[in-house]
This record gives sequence, C-alpha cells and structure tokens, in this order.
Amino acid sequence: MLKTRFFKAELETPFVLASGILGLTASSMIRVLDFGCGAVTTKSFNMEWRKGHKAPSILPFENGLLNAVGLSNPGADEMVREISQFKSRTNRPLFASIFGRTIDEFGQVAEKIVGLQPDLIEVNVSCPNVRSEFGRPFGDSPQDTAAITRLVKNIAGSHIPVSMKLGPHGPGIGLMAKACEDNGADAITAINTVGPGMLIDIDVRKPILANKTGGVSGPAILPIAVKSVYEVYQAVKIPIIGTGGVTTAADAIQMILAGASLVGVGTAVYERGIEVFHELAAGIENYMTTYGFKTIEDFRGLAHE
Ligand SMILES: Cc1cc2nc3c(=O)[nH]c(=O)nc-3n(C[C@H](O)[C@H](O)[C@H](O)COP(=O)(O)O)c2cc1C
Repeated sequence: MLKTRFFKAELETPFVLASGILGLTASSMIRVLDFGCGAVTTKSFNMEWRKGHKAPSILPFENGLLNAVGLSNPGADEMVREISQFKSRTNRPLFASIFGRTIDEFGQVAEKIVGLQPDLIEVNVSCPNVRSEFGRPFGDSPQDTAAITRLVKNIAGSHIPVSMKLGPHGPGIGLMAKACEDNGADAITAINTVGPGMLIDIDVRKPILANKTGGVSGPAILPIAVKSVYEVYQAVKIPIIGTGGVTTAADAIQMILAGASLVGVGTAVYERGIEVFHELAAGIENYMTTYGFKTIEDFRGLAHE
C-alpha cells in the first residue's frame, strides 16, 4: 500500500530520513531502513571535515529543536567510505546530501560521490545556521542556486537525480524552485530548518546556544513547511520531498495533500526514536483505508483541487 517509486528507487514507504539525523554511518542508516523508513539521507558533507559549532549546539524546546550543529561532518573521503559500505550491504535507497563553502566546492563533492551511484544527490544550499561563517546561504540567491544546480546536474548526468534543498527564506520558495527546475533539477526538498532563532536562559540572562542562534525544526515549523510544499507544487512539475515538522501521520498526510511525493522526517526521529516510522506508516495506512485510497498518488496534491 505504501510502496513508492521515486525515479529508479523502490521505497517500502514514502518516508525519508532527513539529513542531519543518524546519517553519518552505514550501520545507523541501515537500522533506520529496518524500522519502516523508505530511504535515508546522509548528513550533509563537504570536501574537508568540519568540527562545527561549540556545545551546546542542540537545544530541545517545547515545540521542536534549535540547532547550531554548524554542518559538522567527517569530510567527503570518510563519507565515501561509509556510503560504499552501505552499498555493499544493501541496495535500499540512499540519498547523498552535499554542500560547499563555495560554488566550485559543490562540484568537487559531487565528483567524489557520483561513482558510488547514490539514488539521489540532495544539494543543501539552505542551511541557516552557518551565516556567521559563510554569510547568506546560496539558497537565498536565484543566480547562485541556478549555477549550483547546473554544476551538480552536469556531473550527476541523466542517471542520478538531483534534488535542491531549499528553505523558506530568500525571494520566495516557489520562485527558487522554478529557478532550480529551469536549470536541470529533478526534484525539490522543502524545507531546511527555519530562522535562525534564539532562546534565552532567563536566570543566566544569556542565549542558551553557544552559537547564540540556531535553525528551528520540529512541530513549530510544520505550517511553514506545509505552505512551502504547497507553493513549490504550484510553481514546478518536478517531485517534492516535503520535510519540516512531521511528527504524526496527520502531519505527513498534510504534506502529501500539499503535493509532496516523499515525506522527510528529522526532529521526530531525534526526539522519539526510529520507531516513529512504524507509527507514521500505520497512521497513513489507516487514513488510506478510511478514505479508500489505494496508493499515495491517489491523494497527492488534493489540497489544490
Ligand atoms: C540536528 C539537525 C541537524 C541537521 N543537519 C542538516 C544537514 O546536515 N543538512 C541538511 O540539509 N539539513 C539538516 N538539517 C535539517 C533537516 O534535514 C530538516 O530539513 C529540518 O530539520 C526540518 O525537518 P524536521 O522538522 O523533521 O527536523 C538538520 C536538522 C537538525 C535538527
């Protein structure tokens, strides 16, 4: 009932582990797939390893998480080893998430992984919590995003799909998605964390995160994510990986009604464990039985009619 085809990949369910949660090792990614997740996205990586920001860098609050992890990752060589190991152990779907500090670096990282045949390359141009180091994300500029899309798609070729990961900031996510589609993107992942935001310790009277600010994720951003997916669906014809604030089956169904083909889940896995995928799958099946839908396609985008 929940089996979903996404380009050449066959997913057991339409759920995707979002980038940044448990996506650093082959073993952790395979374990997530064993728990009813349809595809995993690696943690975003660039050429050289990055330490990221000082602790505390992840702060749970009532309606989500504030994170300033700062794109810490072990670098492309180490991630190539983990992805190769993943591929030697299973042929289930893996999406490789890449980023660069410069436009050229996106191309260098894409070159590194293209030979491993990931099921998709996700291009992170929208992390909001590295502004202090990198300035405005490339994803705020249609020109930069278009250039990165062309560069990565050129390297990925026709056999590896490329999804551009966008945020709700910048000149409008519909416009940005169109710029990606016009420049060769095969899919859009929407959205990244929102903000950045800040929370203050009222006794110490200082921001709690060492970085002071961090990207907001989890239930607090669900309405922004649903609206972003809705807007992208109206702007482009390519498929959408709807991500942001999904915690329950009802949240995931909203994403699909707004137009998502796949549903990314990050913070809910961090907060509730990988069992959350079984709960989401059972809830969607229940909904489909109630309304007589046979496949996800039967209700995808219906909120637009
Ligand atoms: C701790 C943490 C680390 C993240 N790291 C990345 C990352 O490396 N690359 C990326 O594209 N998104 C990253 N994200 C964003 C998520 O992939 C996702 O887009 C966002 O959190 C919204 O989904 P959620 O509310 O289900 O978490 C991270 C999010 C969190 C909470």
